[in-house]
Amino acid sequence: MRAIARLALATLVVAAPLTAVMAAHAADDPTPITVVTSDFEDGTVQGWTGRSAETLASSTTVAHGGTHSLAVTGRTATWQGPALSVLSTFAKGTSYTISAWVRMAEGSDSARLSVERRTSGTATYETVVGNTAVTSSGWVNLTGHYTLSADVDFLNLYVETASSTGSLYIDDVTASYVPALPIQTDIPAVKSVVTEFPVGAAITGAEITTEHGELLARHFNSVTPGNALKWDATEPTENTFTYTQADPLIAFAKAHGMKVRGHTLVWHNQTPAWVFQDASGAAMTATAENKALLLARLENHIRNVAAHYGDTIGTWDVVNEVIDESQSDGLRRSNWYNITGLDYLRTAFKVAREVVPSAKLCINDYNTNVAAKRDALYNLVVKLKGEGVPIDCVGHQMHVNVSWPSIADTEAMLKKFEGIGVEQQVTEMDVSIYTSSGESFPTPPADRLLSQAYMYRDMFALFRKYKADLTSVTLWGLADDNTWLDTYPVARKDAPLLFDTRLQAKSAYWGVVDPSKIGASASPSASVSVSPSVSISPSASVSVSPSSSTSPGTSGCTVTYRVTGSWPGGFQGDVKIANTGSSAISGWKLSWQFTGGQAISQLWNGSVAQSGATVTVTNASWNATIAAGGSASVGFLASWTGSNPVPAAFTVNGTACTVA
Ligand code: XIL
Repeated sequence: MRAIARLALATLVVAAPLTAVMAAHAADDPTPITVVTSDFEDGTVQGWTGRSAETLASSTTVAHGGTHSLAVTGRTATWQGPALSVLSTFAKGTSYTISAWVRMAEGSDSARLSVERRTSGTATYETVVGNTAVTSSGWVNLTGHYTLSADVDFLNLYVETASSTGSLYIDDVTASYVPALPIQTDIPAVKSVVTEFPVGAAITGAEITTEHGELLARHFNSVTPGNALKWDATEPTENTFTYTQADPLIAFAKAHGMKVRGHTLVWHNQTPAWVFQDASGAAMTATAENKALLLARLENHIRNVAAHYGDTIGTWDVVNEVIDESQSDGLRRSNWYNITGLDYLRTAFKVAREVVPSAKLCINDYNTNVAAKRDALYNLVVKLKGEGVPIDCVGHQMHVNVSWPSIADTEAMLKKFEGIGVEQQVTEMDVSIYTSSGESFPTPPADRLLSQAYMYRDMFALFRKYKADLTSVTLWGLADDNTWLDTYPVARKDAPLLFDTRLQAKSAYWGVVDPSKIGASASPSASVSVSPSVSISPSASVSVSPSSSTSPGTSGCTVTYRVTGSWPGGFQGDVKIANTGSSAISGWKLSWQFTGGQAISQLWNGSVAQSGATVTVTNASWNATIAAGGSASVGFLASWTGSNPVPAAFTVNGTACTVA
């Protein structure tokens, strides 16, 4: 039995011949290379095992393709299910697309696809595809992406269910990857263009390997270990410190002369359960004894971790995400707060200052561009600094998306913290292509990539303007092949960074480096639509009154107005001006009437003024000129009530345009 399984595994896992396959592959060929194919057609389990005592057998009862599948029976817990070792198959730093077909034997449940990896006996579980409804009446596909970021001695792909222990089938499981391309060496380094402050990327073990390491060192001069310095990584059990994840990352940074941001000493997530258990192992309640124990653990943790790195880590996110603006005092009710009040903050900063006096000490949070959160953070920083707590810096995470937040709100955020004796840093920026958790695209739509490029352009322009306040800007990842947004807030492929899944510069990169080149790599086209949820009945053409025959050239314009998304009370739209004349338009004002009471709340690629129904959009500096035959587009968010009529007429510089 074992011999058969072994043999089958050897045919499944193309481990050794991989290099040969890769070498034969044209460097820019995006054809995926498949490294796992489990179809169970040979009547064996093809190397799959149970996670516990379940029974696995090739079955002909149902099959997705061919005549066989894998039947999994005898499950006694939801986490039990079929598993396949991919230890000798998956390489660190490579992004794999994993697909599996799943079906229940009876009834219905939700199934998910995960990876369990272990390093020196410590297990980490990573979701590849989140809970997805499955029944006994048909096959359901689970497809997701996975990048191995750590050195491991155990790596299993597995399927489990959410609530029942019913028997299930899996079939046609594949894992494939598209090899990374060589990195581009003929484009400017981000760090050589943005020189106002260090520009960083968050990294895992995957980002310091091969092409990823080259890309990282070429463009960035700061790094933040994304997980490796969190409490669960550095002190998994009490007073046992381990730096096996973080040390290689920090050594890489040192070797390349990069700065390091330490993230993070105190957080409510990724902190082991023992930290909040009392001497008897029970969950701590708010007693004086527990408070003393917790503060002692905190002090011990910081003394060890901060001292281990000393001056190598120039900035620490001492505390992370302590604000909850929905509380009347603005403070998150974490275990830290519930047991120690504000003392955990006082202790953390005081001890960090003592251990690494030269390090910048930050308080870091997300959504600091939202007024209520921003103000709660501001109040806390002012209060603690007033007590002498050594806070040097406020970190703005900046996990944003293609249409949120506004530049104005982000500017207000930066202004707010001026004059209170703190530096500011952007610590975790990424720009999701999604604007709600209900969306999911198999590949990033061109218009989202374009909006993303403009968001990066405008945000970086703002950051550079505020160079007196900002001392660092870090992106939360290096390239789209490895981003936390692939599984957060739901599992779906996201593309929030400057480089694509094959490490090539996106329009987002050009947004930062040279906005005049936006579009060159994303081939955006105005005709790509985002499945508008509102149907538009474009009004009939309005006749153009071409200006009289005064030379030079003729003038003329066509305006295309589209609603690209709509929801109760709000909608997103874009408006394109095509220059149909024979001479360039230099500087433009586009105007229309919103007859249904719609009001624009945010507009990009131009500036907007609305007075009653009249909307006037003025060009941005970079799109002021529309060449003959060329076009310019603006996008906006607006509110509506009752109805959302499409504007009937548009003017550019006072002249009516054809309505497309
Ligand atoms: C994220 C990591 O990137 C993920 O790999 C991990 O699973 C969860 O945490 N705000 C923070 C970061 O401060 O620590 C988080 O990092 C992202 C949100």
